[in-house]
Amino acid sequence: MLGPAQQDESIKWSGAVAPDHSLSIRGVRKSFAGTEVLKGVDLELAPGEIVAVLGANGCGKSTLLRCAIRLLEPDAGEIRLCGRDLASLRGKELREARREAAVVFQQIALVRRRSALQNVCCGALGELPLRRSYASNAFPHEVRERAALALQRVGMLDKAWQPASTLSGGQAQRVAIARAYCQRASVILADEPVSALDPRAAEDVMELLADLAHRDRLGVLVVLHQPELALRYADRVVGMLLGEVVFDAKPPEVSPQRVAELYQHLHGA
Ligand SMILES: Nc1ncnc2c1ncn2[C@@H]1O[C@H](COP(=O)(O)OP(=O)(O)OP(=O)(O)O)[C@@H](O)[C@H]1O
Ligand SMILES: [Mg+2]
Repeated sequence: MLGPAQQDESIKWSGAVAPDHSLSIRGVRKSFAGTEVLKGVDLELAPGEIVAVLGANGCGKSTLLRCAIRLLEPDAGEIRLCGRDLASLRGKELREARREAAVVFQQIALVRRRSALQNVCCGALGELPLRRSYASNAFPHEVRERAALALQRVGMLDKAWQPASTLSGGQAQRVAIARAYCQRASVILADEPVSALDPRAAEDVMELLADLAHRDRLGVLVVLHQPELALRYADRVVGMLLGEVVFDAKPPEVSPQRVAELYQHLHGA
């Protein structure tokens, strides 16, 4: 039975069933070799929203992203992706549920000798039988059409036939985002997607991610080491310190002092 808020959301949502949150993380804990890295993290991401996560090296940001799609098994807590409780799913069901989330990394993982278009087609691999299409390089027409639209969406259609190895860092990151778009995911999880980019390219990519959230109604969760980009482009900024969320607020409510505190303990300031 849907609550009133969920019913409202279902009107806006293009699919048949509308989750009220793209991603809901509650009380997630994770330890490695007896050291607790995530100490009961809560984080909500709604469709149409871009949320930035800030925090010092080693505070648990990447671990959180990996737990969010159960690439890592959390020790405790609940994760719902597009309304589905991931812990309750196994095998094929889990793989299908995971397809709702696309991951974009700092290290842009494109197949270097393949064209931008072929790389974007790979976003559809999860829905193709046996991954044979990828090996034979014969993606179905529908997928190539979708990939071309995705490249157009990120402003890279003119580079469709260029080998990925010849793209600049910013262009390659756009292609990686187009691949996520081609996956038709509802959520993009981006782990430091702009850390290797020059300031202008970083702004372009952040603008694109914010646009995908606001215009395409994707939920975008982006880990950043650039507080100024977080404050400029995100709808909410989450601050993590030593495995805990210490603030979760709209940019105007995040003072420079609060941001500075995230990094002070590392450098003894
Ligand atoms: N597979 C693992 N085995 C053991 N320890 C791990 C593993 N993955 C992460 N850790 C540890 O967990 C802590 C958090 O790591 P994580 O990669 O989540 O940090 P982060 O916030 O993403 O840092 P950065 O900003 O440097 O990317 C670190 O101390 C790291 O060494
Ligand atoms: Mg990390």
